[in-house]
Amino acid sequence: MANIVVLGAGGWGTALATLAHKNGHTVTMWSPFAEEIAAIRRDGQHRRLLPDIPVPTSLQLSTDIACVAAADLVLLTVPSFAIVQTADAMRPHLRQGTVVANAAKGLCPDTGRRLSELLAEHLPTARVAILSGPSHAEEVARGVPTMLCVASADAGAAATVQELLSNKRFRLYLTADMVGVELGGALKNAVALAAGICDGLGLGDNTKAALMTRGLAEMSRLGVALGAEATTFSGLSGMGDLIVTCGSMHSRNRRAGILVGQGLTAAEAVEQVGTVEGYFACATAVELARRVGVEIPIIEQCYRICYEQVPAREALAALLARPSGGAEKFGC
Ligand SMILES: NC(=O)c1ccc[n+]([C@@H]2O[C@H](COP(=O)([O-])OP(=O)(O)OC[C@H]3O[C@@H](n4cnc5c(N)ncnc54)[C@H](O)[C@@H]3O)[C@@H](O)[C@H]2O)c1
Repeated sequence: MANIVVLGAGGWGTALATLAHKNGHTVTMWSPFAEEIAAIRRDGQHRRLLPDIPVPTSLQLSTDIACVAAADLVLLTVPSFAIVQTADAMRPHLRQGTVVANAAKGLCPDTGRRLSELLAEHLPTARVAILSGPSHAEEVARGVPTMLCVASADAGAAATVQELLSNKRFRLYLTADMVGVELGGALKNAVALAAGICDGLGLGDNTKAALMTRGLAEMSRLGVALGAEATTFSGLSGMGDLIVTCGSMHSRNRRAGILVGQGLTAAEAVEQVGTVEGYFACATAVELARRVGVEIPIIEQCYRICYEQVPAREALAALLARPSGGAEKFGC
């Protein structure tokens, strides 16, 4: 039995905390928001995000970041924009060599750096791993069979995450390709936003299948240019996560995209849906792609819709007007 601390008490944090608790570990779930912790304690569940999933009283809840001091494993589930401030807050309390697994998806909006790079810098004594792949919190919390990747340059850290979190319905696959797993998890949000726009415009299954396939090719091209292994993108944190995010109403990126396709501005859609990581990811991806000289036309048009107020139909027309391509390395 291990001591696991989950930072972030939203949908994903609550799902992973209840999973770790069912696995028999001592679990503490932390949030910086006293009202959030008080509501979970009062209701015995996260009523807004995971209704009817019991949060047992033996699962400890805290607003004190010092709770990481006793952890064998810290799981980060705060939104990507809050990773650095959370890492800085926990640093004075973290024991040397503690495994810190980041389960948030995204890239640093200002620099395009991966979250594991930021964690390595801000938590120099931690052993950093990444947990990513096709996973709706709602389904993990209900015990729906789910498979994810754990990536780390530290094979021992990845194995610790696998050993502590795995059960018969939650299987974890290990890889050393942190770049591929993190870029897969971040870039698929931009493609999911585009897939939602496609749905909101009322286009058909053919269009959506093409968008997902070509979107995956864009993710692979950019990922490989940034140091990822191409095969990672056909795995759980590439194609797997893309399928789950582009096809489900659980996905906030897709839901926001649908609203944009139906005529809302991207800012209005984000305001309505809440955290939409794809909105930020498409801007970061465009910047990264320009830096390394890679074409990502779908994500680029998504960026124009979000930040240059280009109407969705005009962006679609621009994509369809591109010269026809031949077969290429990352799937035609
Ligand atoms: N929800 C899912 O199904 C799911 C699945 C896999 C990965 N993820 C990823 O996990 C991350 C969190 O997603 P979520 O759906 O749980 O989000 P959420 O908005 O439901 O919850 C985030 C939680 O983080 C904490 N938090 C919020 N702002 C914070 C801040 N400024 N500083 C510190 N802590 C803060 C709060 O406890 C909040 O409830 C995202 O990067 C998302 O892409 C989510």
